[in-house]
Amino acid sequence: ACSSGSDDDSTLTVCTNVPFVPFEYQEDGEYVGFDMDLMNMLADRLDQTVEVVEISFDSISSGEALNAGTCDIAAAGLSITEERQAAMGMSQAYYRADQALVVPDGSAVATLDDLSGVQVAVQSGSTGEAYANDNAEQYGYEVVAFESMGDIASALSAGTVGASIADLATWQQMIETASGLTLVQTIETAEHYGFAVQKDDTELLDEVNAMLDAAFEDGTYAELYEKWIGE
Ligand code: ARG
Repeated sequence: ACSSGSDDDSTLTVCTNVPFVPFEYQEDGEYVGFDMDLMNMLADRLDQTVEVVEISFDSISSGEALNAGTCDIAAAGLSITEERQAAMGMSQAYYRADQALVVPDGSAVATLDDLSGVQVAVQSGSTGEAYANDNAEQYGYEVVAFESMGDIASALSAGTVGASIADLATWQQMIETASGLTLVQTIETAEHYGFAVQKDDTELLDEVNAMLDAAFEDGTYAELYEKWIGE
């Protein structure tokens, strides 16, 4: 992409937001995860090297970061929505996702029905935030937006918020390490993750889709799925 953040053709600049296990997070100073492995495959295919640009999720999901040329591609567990398809170039789906309700251990909240008067943490710009806003009136809770999933986990542990709604797979893995949190309800939203490119970058979009097709066909995708998600 000619208008990318790094004008260097040997670099694939990838916008992401961490932590979002198992899709993107840092380990020993490196960005790793399901999305990162797929981005490395794309870079290999293009004879490029990945350079990660960490940025707010909000600026990724709005299309702002990509369309300002901050990066060539966004890999952020980004759910495909009509709005996002209009703002950016979105690839084919590579992961099926849902939302989940998480609370501190010992909370009286067991389902969405128990959220009256509760402060519910969401990530800014996420589909979890949209879901929470759409249903706030019905369940009588207050939505509080945070910059990152790490901030949400901290707020829940500290008790400054009473619950959170965010992506199921991420919560399932996060509660294993962020102690004191319980996943109480799965909220089926049937989302699909896709990678996003600058609106008119059909060239890179074709490459991402071709990379995914090849990975689906040759078993690489299945291997990565097993590695990062399990069965
Ligand atoms: N799948 C959700 C969305 O697209 C949340 C993704 C959050 N990703 C992240 N890297 N924090 O809105």
